[in-house]
Amino acid sequence: MNERRQLLSAGQCDRQMIDRLFSLTDLLRQKRRTDAVFSCLRGQTVCLLFFEPSTRTRLSFSLAVHSLGGRTEGSEAAGSCSSAAKGETIEDTMRVLESYGIDAVVIRHPQRGIMERAAGATALPIINAGDGDGEHPTQALLDLYTITRLVPKARKTIAFCGDIKHSRTIRSLCRLLSAYDGGTGGVRLIFCSAPQLAPDAELTGMLDTAHLDYEITDNIADALRQCDVFYQTRVQQERFANGQDGMQAAQTVADHFSLSMDRVCRMKPGAIILHPLPRIGEIDTRVDADPRAKYFTEQTRNGLYVRMALLVWILRPDFKTGLPWCLGSELN
Ligand code: NCD
Repeated sequence: MNERRQLLSAGQCDRQMIDRLFSLTDLLRQKRRTDAVFSCLRGQTVCLLFFEPSTRTRLSFSLAVHSLGGRTEGSEAAGSCSSAAKGETIEDTMRVLESYGIDAVVIRHPQRGIMERAAGATALPIINAGDGDGEHPTQALLDLYTITRLVPKARKTIAFCGDIKHSRTIRSLCRLLSAYDGGTGGVRLIFCSAPQLAPDAELTGMLDTAHLDYEITDNIADALRQCDVFYQTRVQQERFANGQDGMQAAQTVADHFSLSMDRVCRMKPGAIILHPLPRIGEIDTRVDADPRAKYFTEQTRNGLYVRMALLVWILRPDFKTGLPWCLGSELN
């Protein structure tokens, strides 16, 4: 990790950092259930700047900051309601936030590479909440946390389905898995999609470098039968240069790669179904009641705890050694 604690890419995380973050997440999850009120971010302000739509990421960051005793400022429609709409650069916006004494900035933006530009213009910690079709490292952290806690097997198969090519959550999760399991043989990946939505060379190159075992297929029945984790995604229509192609891709996923009750019945009993959400029809709503469906329960909820842990890690530099630091009243 960098000297300055921040999170621009999942590629910055190593196994030790991930393990520490997840131990802290366990603790926060346990304590919050007992209604403990934390104050470790008292006096700190986190700015949430969202230039693209968001429900879960923005709300859970906001809740996470408040649960830790901090304050939030910012804009949920920064693309149209901040000075960006007048042409202000991200660099100038960062300089302004720094002069107000903000402590960290969470940014979502449609453009890849914007996080590095923001981080280059300020000493403030930047957290990437999604940059175009680039990365979404905090989603990847909550996905990996959910997988490790719900599927504790030493060897597991994760199947990714839907629009793999444009998914920043899959890209970041693969980076994280490379750091977490690369070369250990602990994980096998199956990418299941129509050819036009398959992983690109950037993603497969990264998996090859990390020596992760993977397969690319269009056979959803096989993927469902083999997997311990089925990770479904929507077609990212906003990432297509031509709207017609996006609509066609969505139809292909609806026709051949969606999750129906029939298909879920072929999965292992202990497998889990994840989706970063929003769901746009690629999982039948009847699947929601299946005990394997975790997208509206553990997965979403863990987003709050993982983001709380990340904020503690970034904004409390005295959090160096993980669990012992935050045991008992020291968290307050
Ligand atoms: C994802 C995103 O924004 O990349 N959603 C999320 O943050 N939970 C996935 C998506 O929009 O399809």
